[in-house]
Amino acid sequence: MASMNLFAVLAIICIVIPRVAFATEYIVGDDSGWTIKFDYAAWAKDKEFRVGDKLVFAYPVGGHNVHKVNATGFKECIVPPESEALSSGNDVITLATPGNKWYLCGVGQHCTDGGQKLSIAVLPAFEETWQAPSPAPASPSSATGIATSRYQIFIVALITIAMAIIV
Ligand SMILES: *[C@@H]1O[C@H](CO)[C@@H](O)[C@H](O)[C@H]1NC(C)=O
Repeated sequence: MASMNLFAVLAIICIVIPRVAFATEYIVGDDSGWTIKFDYAAWAKDKEFRVGDKLVFAYPVGGHNVHKVNATGFKECIVPPESEALSSGNDVITLATPGNKWYLCGVGQHCTDGGQKLSIAVLPAFEETWQAPSPAPASPSSATGIATSRYQIFIVALITIAMAIIV
C-alpha cells in the first residue's frame, strides 16, 4: 500500500516537476542588464532557451527599450515604431514558440553603435521533446537526444533521492 502511494507521488512529481523545474528565467545580460557595449552574443552562446522560458530585460526606464524584430531588422538595426516597444524597465518576455528570436534597443544609436541587440534560438519545451520519440515524427536533431537523456537522468536522480528518504 505504501509503495502504491509512493508510486503515485513519484508519477505526479515526474509530470509536474519538468514544467516547473525546466522553465528558466533569464536576466538578459545578467548583472549588466539590458545596455550598450555588452556582448549579448557571448551571453547567449552557452544557454539553452526553451519554450516556456522567460527573458527579463532590465534597464533604467527611459534609458532603453525592447523591440522584437526579424532577422533583417536585427542585422541592419531597423527600429520598428516606438509604439511597439516594451519600455517598463523590467520587460518579461515568455518564449512562446520555438525558432530564432531577435530583439534590439530602439533608443538612439544603441543598436548600431552600442551593439544592443540579442539573437537567440528557442528549442521546444521539455515535455514536447520528452514525448517526441513515441508518436510524433522523430526529430533527428541532436538537441532532442541531449534533452531526453538529461530528463531521464533527472528522473532517475529524483527517484533515487525519494527512495533514500523513504527507505
Ligand atoms: C522584417 O522587418 C522589416 C522592418 O520591420 C520589414 O520591412 C520586413 O518586411 C521584414 N521582413 C520579413 C521577411 O518579414
